[in-house]
Amino acid sequence: MNTLNDPLENRNGQLFIDGVSAQTLVEKFDTPLYVISERRIRNNYQRLKAALTRNYSKFKIYYAMKANSNLAVLKVLESEGVCVDAVSPGEVFMALTSGFTPERILFTGTSVRNDELKFLSDSNVIINVDSQSQLIRLLKINVPKTLSVRINPEIGAGHHEHCITAGKESKFGVWEQDAVKAYTTAKEAGVEKFGIHMHIGSGILDSKPYLDALERLLAVAKKVHDQAKVNFEFIDIGGGLGVPYGPEDKPLDLQAYSDKVLSAFKAKMSQYDLGEPTLHIEPGRYLVADASILLTAVNTLKVTPYRKFVGVDAGFNTLIRPAMYGSYHHIIVANKLVATEEEKYDVAGPICESGDLLAKDRCLPRIEEGDLLAVLNAGAYGFSMSSQYNARPRAAEVLVKEGKYKLVREREQLDDLMQGQQQAIEWQ
Ligand code: LLP
Repeated sequence: MNTLNDPLENRNGQLFIDGVSAQTLVEKFDTPLYVISERRIRNNYQRLKAALTRNYSKFKIYYAMKANSNLAVLKVLESEGVCVDAVSPGEVFMALTSGFTPERILFTGTSVRNDELKFLSDSNVIINVDSQSQLIRLLKINVPKTLSVRINPEIGAGHHEHCITAGKESKFGVWEQDAVKAYTTAKEAGVEKFGIHMHIGSGILDSKPYLDALERLLAVAKKVHDQAKVNFEFIDIGGGLGVPYGPEDKPLDLQAYSDKVLSAFKAKMSQYDLGEPTLHIEPGRYLVADASILLTAVNTLKVTPYRKFVGVDAGFNTLIRPAMYGSYHHIIVANKLVATEEEKYDVAGPICESGDLLAKDRCLPRIEEGDLLAVLNAGAYGFSMSSQYNARPRAAEVLVKEGKYKLVREREQLDDLMQGQQQAIEWQ
């Protein structure tokens, strides 16, 4: 792939990210290094907003911050007016710290503890319950003014079975037959305003599963409206918008998605007499995936009778998606963008497991030790899923904007590996 998408640029064979040289960044901050483009995040948000606005004006975009919870990313999106989808007290805490007010935060958690429910209630965020159990335990702690219920529309989709979050085998959401009971319980306890929610999965590149699941969700909404006498303030159709990772992947047709999904939404609203609730959508990946790359340096070339390995300093401790889901991430050689001669390599990380490959059988320009690789589309579920496995400190993160750069997360140091641990244990 020789064509690079904005904010990536080829300047005389060298990679630049929104006007900043990749080489300069690694000289300054070392590797592995996540580089995030502020402008690309803003553009992604504006593009999505424009696509929705043309069909329905009453909508809110909730950023699923699990995709990338760097404070700099949160602050950029906060300044755009985005709301937040949070899934843990930690995410709520970080969103509040980044300047989001509680009414801009929707909590959607599963297997939530009582002390966590108390924290969420005290924080005044809107809670989207995942089960009757969670609802009853919440109501004992506090009766919120507004409440939402996550429904399992029994239709799921996603790029990998781990990322399909609705359907028969799914642990998520309340089933249709239990929905009326959940809303009646909440209403009788004194809840005044209601939402209804679904999230069918992640990495979806076509509108069809959304349309099918939306139809089911709205049928449940109608049933709840009629039987529990509930009017909906908002209807949340979740996240899941996919992005192309491989050269052959076609991007989601955003206009078509917006046209189809929102016209189906509006038609059902009037057919079912559900008024004009606010539509929520919860993209994570779409807003941040292509705004970030991972820079990793080649330290080893190893040719065996069977394979050619390129050993780099980022493994599945730094980016777990290839090992965990078999995900494809495009890789380019940041210092050889014009090289033509290609060879097939396995790109291997430093982790002591054979599954620690960022890519297998990948055609790359002939690699030498010291080359700099850029793993593309690393902004979603990259750093946020990284770990210290094999006692490797986590990577640093840099934000770039129009030729300028700022370190927004320091590289962890060896001391960080022992943080909170006892160095000497003495039994009494
Ligand atoms: N809303 C809820 C309730 C979610 O659980 C998720 C993602 C989203 C929204 C945002 O989904 P997105 O727009 O980013 O697809 N680690 C996996 C993805 C797991 C997604 C989990 N839930 C990956 O790397 O592909």
